[in-house]
Amino acid sequence: MLHVIASHQGRPSDDPIFALNREATERRARGEAVVNATVGSLLDDEGKLAVLPTAARAVHEVPRDEWAAYAPISGTPGFLKAVMDDLFVDQPALRATAVAAATPGGTGALRHAIANFLEPGQALLTTSFYWGPYKTLTDEADRRLATFSMFDAKGALDVEALDRALRDQVREQGRVLLFLNDPCHNPTGYSMQPSEWRAVVACLLAHAEKAPVTLLVDFAYSAYNAGDPRAFLKELEPLVGRAGLLFAWSASKTFTHYGLRVGALVACVDAQQDRASTEAALSYSCRGTWSNCNRGGLAAITRLLTDPDLARACHLEREAFKAMLQARVRAFNAAASEKKLPYPRYDGGFFVTVFHDKAFEKALAMKERGVFVVPQAGALRVALCSVAERDVGRLVTTLAE
Ligand SMILES: Cc1ncc(COP(=O)(O)O)c(C=O)c1O
Repeated sequence: MLHVIASHQGRPSDDPIFALNREATERRARGEAVVNATVGSLLDDEGKLAVLPTAARAVHEVPRDEWAAYAPISGTPGFLKAVMDDLFVDQPALRATAVAAATPGGTGALRHAIANFLEPGQALLTTSFYWGPYKTLTDEADRRLATFSMFDAKGALDVEALDRALRDQVREQGRVLLFLNDPCHNPTGYSMQPSEWRAVVACLLAHAEKAPVTLLVDFAYSAYNAGDPRAFLKELEPLVGRAGLLFAWSASKTFTHYGLRVGALVACVDAQQDRASTEAALSYSCRGTWSNCNRGGLAAITRLLTDPDLARACHLEREAFKAMLQARVRAFNAAASEKKLPYPRYDGGFFVTVFHDKAFEKALAMKERGVFVVPQAGALRVALCSVAERDVGRLVTTLAE
């Protein structure tokens, strides 16, 4: 007899992206020339995980007792300070209002946001194209997911659709939590312009006069942005004190240590008393879920953020990885525009999305031909982070056929 509660029965056992990746890996191991554009990690042109050597060394240099001991519930103070300093290096006004809790990766930060900024049963709001686990996280927390149409007719963020969705949510549930993954949105690859951020902030402020509205910026891919990933943060300053402002910070991609599970939820709260209450709520959530994070991981990332020589070395190594990725982006843009593939503006980042009416059938047909991409309603996600530059031509040709 199945003893799992009724509402959790029939849940899929395997993440669809991991299942596709497994099939691609098995077929490649049997000698087939497979292009695997499903993996959400940066691979080099030989298909090996691209790991920052300095980050790997710092992880190995963490002393035994740091790995063995518990961390404080919210994370070590040095780690929290390092993350907030890193995020707000050019934004002292935001930095002055920030509190944080350590989380296992950005995923943990998203989890804490859902649990603390939405009541049970309420819906998280995000873009119509979104990272699938947003839905899993809301399911798991007994919340729901609602979306607004991501792009307008000109291919920019559809702020009017956002405005309508915010109005509906304020009316229906009297509270809003909006996730925006920027820059280098997963899955579309889209990065918003400062003018789009200004429009989003104005829209949020208008609705925040009627109900509590919180924006979470999912910053997971920021280190791979073509330009300055923090340039838009100054646009968010007007939100502080009038709307909630959160950041999901992650070391997974930034330091190429996905399995280390280091991240943080950062909250900007203007009043001292509210800051303390927010900090307490986040700490309580840590205790009530994973208790505390991996202390050794926090120690390694703290050192990488604060030791100037290590930070500089990581920056240079990351720039080399970014150059490899940018070469793929350029090859994709050249081939895809020649084939007239429909896709959003793509300046850089791990993923791009090609719009397609029959995405699931198309992905299946591509798989038959040895090219693996991830389908979702209306689109195919292409993980250029895992495709060698030499394979981009074949990938685009198969997409276009
Ligand atoms: C959009 C997005 N947000 C957050 C994350 C969180 O990653 P992690 O929990 O490994 O830091 C990911 C990872 O793939 C992601 O794609």
